[in-house]
Amino acid sequence: MSDDPAHVREFFGVRAAGWDSRFPDDGPAYAAAVADLGLRPGDAVLDAGCGTGRALPPLRAAVGPTGTVLGVDLTPEMLAQVVKEGRDQDGTPVLADVARLPLRDGALDAVFGAGLVSHLADPARDLAELARVVRPGGRLALFHPIGRAALAARHGRRITDDDLRAEPRLRPLLAGSGWELTAYTDEDHRFLALAVRRTD
Ligand SMILES: C[S@@+](CC[C@H](N)C(=O)[O-])C[C@H]1O[C@@H](n2cnc3c(N)ncnc32)[C@H](O)[C@@H]1O
Repeated sequence: MSDDPAHVREFFGVRAAGWDSRFPDDGPAYAAAVADLGLRPGDAVLDAGCGTGRALPPLRAAVGPTGTVLGVDLTPEMLAQVVKEGRDQDGTPVLADVARLPLRDGALDAVFGAGLVSHLADPARDLAELARVVRPGGRLALFHPIGRAALAARHGRRITDDDLRAEPRLRPLLAGSGWELTAYTDEDHRFLALAVRRTD
């Protein structure tokens, strides 16, 4: 599944205000996923498709006061929630499409993207844009607080191997976009793919 930006904005715009109350218990899962990204004090990290900014507090905690935390989203209503929840104290909200980031090449140490990849209009192009803004050796985490099978069951579907997040699809997709998949977990309560920005 992929999505065009106008549909993404429409879909998430009406859901923004109630987003956090739908998933009130996810905080520890986000903190654990951020921990697996291996950030260091002073690092620069982007939360790509940050939504209401649920990952911004643990990202800030990981990079500390000298680090840089950005939250990019293309849905204005989501970024309004970042401010309403006071999470703009932890990271700077930026209205942008991850397909065209207002960042220079190699500006970042890492990207965290929760619930993002299946909404990208052109996943190969957009993952390559994320690679562009990360330094060689930098890291990417694609996270979801629910695994593929559990999510499919929630929607009354079964998982299939043509799902973008299935390892046989995700590994070559990342490889063609400048990333090397280094770890892959798909359990009921956690989907986490970790990748490293290739140096070649
Ligand atoms: C499923 S929500 C997840 C939000 C947040 N990361 C979380 O875990 O709560 C997906 C978010 O990605 C944003 N998004 C989707 N495609 C995007 C794109 N191309 N550029 C920027 N944001 C995008 C949507 O607006 C939405 O806020």
